[in-house]
Amino acid sequence: MIAKGKNWFGAALTIRNPVDAQERAIVDNYADFGSITPENAMKWESTEPSRGVFTFDGADAIRDYAATQKKQIHCHNLVWHSQLPLWVSQGKFDNATLISIMYDHIKAVAGRYKGSCTRWDVVNEALNEDGTYRSSVFYDTIGESFIPLAFKFASEIDPNAKLYYNDYNLEYNNAKTDAAARIVALVKSHGVKIQGVGFQAHLTSESTPTSAAVTPDQGVLEAALKKMTVQGVNVAYTELDVRMNTPVTPAKQAAQAEAYARVVRSCMAVEKCEGITIWGITDKYSWIPGVFIGEGSALVWDENYKPKPAYFAMLKAI
Ligand code: XIL
Repeated sequence: MIAKGKNWFGAALTIRNPVDAQERAIVDNYADFGSITPENAMKWESTEPSRGVFTFDGADAIRDYAATQKKQIHCHNLVWHSQLPLWVSQGKFDNATLISIMYDHIKAVAGRYKGSCTRWDVVNEALNEDGTYRSSVFYDTIGESFIPLAFKFASEIDPNAKLYYNDYNLEYNNAKTDAAARIVALVKSHGVKIQGVGFQAHLTSESTPTSAAVTPDQGVLEAALKKMTVQGVNVAYTELDVRMNTPVTPAKQAAQAEAYARVVRSCMAVEKCEGITIWGITDKYSWIPGVFIGEGSALVWDENYKPKPAYFAMLKAI
């Protein structure tokens, strides 16, 4: 099956109510899905919807499922501008208060799942496309030091989880990639632990209204990964999907299969690329059509749970 030779191959998981047995069978039965990422259950809005009020049902269910199935959890995420409750984003806190809010959140969430998280996405999406920092309540209030602070807190609370910075569009080896490499250097310059950079890899197999660029060549992908690994950190593809303009055609599926294969081969070629997670199982539930209107078919199983050419291309690329 999938993922020989890498530490793990993974998928984002949402536990549906009731459980979708067909989807679940895929996650259960493909033994090489050695890692799962909670698609939403560990995010701030899910875990601390009001200040100091924690709701862990969804995240606990993911933890319990992973434990039963002996799968790793790529825990996602601690500090992010999105899916952040209004009490944080619009709370108008001063610097010291927001730092303590960040600390309390990390302590509660990373503390609860200590021992269960193989990796943590500590900070998610702190960058703009041009490599400057994204405006967010964290950056605007605390400045760039919110990043090393978050890593410091996470490393104190869960010293055994591997701590990741995670972002999208790092795959093109451009200004944003350089900026992610600078974040690694920044955190290290504070004497704080950072062990990985997650390349989300929300990619396209053709130009679309939301992405002029298509999945880069393998060489570019590898160069982007290596920009991080030269600093001694690991890398991983953490949210891989490859969307296209719908409707689907066989030619588009073939291009998609090629794109998936390039991504997988780039990880295989870079020693410190530790794994690949796809952002869901079946197209039936993919986040893409709801966010990128007119785009879709981004995963490797179709709406009827049937493996697509991309699935077989991935297998072959491993
Ligand atoms: C997405 C989920 O897939 C959706 O269900 C949710 O509505 C929005 O978030 N970058 C990330 C992920 O880091 O957490 C996002 O997941 C996709 C983009």
